[in-house]
Amino acid sequence: MNIQWYPGHMTKTRRMIADQIRNVDAVCEIIDARIPVSSRNPDVDELTVGKPRLVVLNRVDQADPAATKLWTAYFRSKGYAVLETDAKSGSGTAKFAVAVRTLLAEKLKAYAEKGQNRVIRVMILGIPNVGKSTFINKIAGRKTAKTEDRPGVTRSKQWVPIDAYLELLDTPGILWPKFEDQSVGMNLAFTGAVKDDILDVETLGCHLMAYLAERYPEALKVAYKLSSIPVREEEEGEEGDVAWGYRLLQAAGRKRGFLISGGEIDTERMAKILLDEFRGSKLGRFTLELPEESV
Ligand code: G4P
Repeated sequence: MNIQWYPGHMTKTRRMIADQIRNVDAVCEIIDARIPVSSRNPDVDELTVGKPRLVVLNRVDQADPAATKLWTAYFRSKGYAVLETDAKSGSGTAKFAVAVRTLLAEKLKAYAEKGQNRVIRVMILGIPNVGKSTFINKIAGRKTAKTEDRPGVTRSKQWVPIDAYLELLDTPGILWPKFEDQSVGMNLAFTGAVKDDILDVETLGCHLMAYLAERYPEALKVAYKLSSIPVREEEEGEEGDVAWGYRLLQAAGRKRGFLISGGEIDTERMAKILLDEFRGSKLGRFTLELPEESV
């Protein structure tokens, strides 16, 4: 699902969260383990202040396992409960109910002491494409309505029973990412959460190549059968990334035989292939953002 930017919708979603927050015991935010910063909306912290929080790092099957470990430790250190999942296969999702009960242990103990057996309610939040619907379907063990991301579509709030004591509030409305800087938009484009037209495909491909060559050179060499990664001669920063990334696209395109007339390499085609293969996890497991403390 692609995100399209409709200003004003975040306002609606904010209002909905503010209205509903008092009806839930905890808030579960689903994020994409490949881009744990860019796939969050930082406003959620302020909107859910005071509520116990669970972060679900979804798509761990596509993310770098070492980086996922760092992110889990990072979120735990900030006081969140953390669950690592691959909602597509269902791996990790069975631990959700236990994670929620552990998070709310004190509250549940207090209920038990009063002889009450209350249903726990958890608000589920997540920007499009993190795997929210897949996750909910997995833990609910059935198909629920798909999130609508079209403007003007209002959904009523949706309670999804998990078991006799646990219910989810699947948030109506869309939680938007926050395009605070270009890197957020780019990361969302790399993972396919936003349409490619945020930047031209070739420039996106250059940036992705530069990142992968920097962080995952071995995987890149294997994926595109490169005997070596062209050494970076360009300066640090965006322009340097694009120039280096362009040389990498040329090297990979040459290997793939993507030629256009005059013997030139079709770098645009190579960029499209790179993005497709990255999104389809054909190149390996990569994480594009690391916790600040570990960089
Ligand atoms: P959303 O509600 O947050 O917008 O996301 P949704 O669940 O619709 O998931 C978007 C796509 O991501 C789906 O693929 C889904 O299968 C896939 N997905 C969700 N979670 C995971 C995960 O943990 N790992 C992997 N590898 N993929 C995941 P699709 O191609 O749109 O549909 P489908 O053909 O897979 O059904």
